[in-house]
Amino acid sequence: IMERTFSIIKPDGVKRNIIGKILAKIEESGLRVVATKTMHMSRREAEQFYAVHSARPFFGELCEYMTSGPVVVSVLEGKNAVASYRELMGATDPSKASKGTIRAEFGLSIGENTMHGSDTLENAAIEVAYFFSGTELVNSAK
Ligand code: CMP
Repeated sequence: IMERTFSIIKPDGVKRNIIGKILAKIEESGLRVVATKTMHMSRREAEQFYAVHSARPFFGELCEYMTSGPVVVSVLEGKNAVASYRELMGATDPSKASKGTIRAEFGLSIGENTMHGSDTLENAAIEVAYFFSGTELVNSAK
């Protein structure tokens, strides 16, 4: 089934100038980038995006980190995009991520883990709509 998922290249990835390397891996995996842009999240935007984690002890640190520099937000499309992108990213903790995954190759720590990817199709739709307007989303079949 064709799906769309939402991806963030976190500040550690942008800082290290590896946006292209990461997008290449995404394309090589068979996913298609249907929208992408660089942005610098405000504190409020980060807090709202990560609202599901607001009770976690690392919430403040997480929002601080995600607003520490620019990020690249993207919409990815492909067969089973949500699950296949999570597989490509690897485990949240880079030291536990399987060989060949983006986080195993580039992740620095559980916080500075280079990537975010939606965990469910339902959250993917919410996250895409949070960062992209309808006019920014092309029909990739055309
Ligand atoms: P992400 O997929 O963006 O969603 C929530 C993020 O919280 C997760 O990636 C991690 O980067 C971050 N996170 C999870 N656990 C911790 C932790 N113990 N300390 C700091 N950040 C964490």
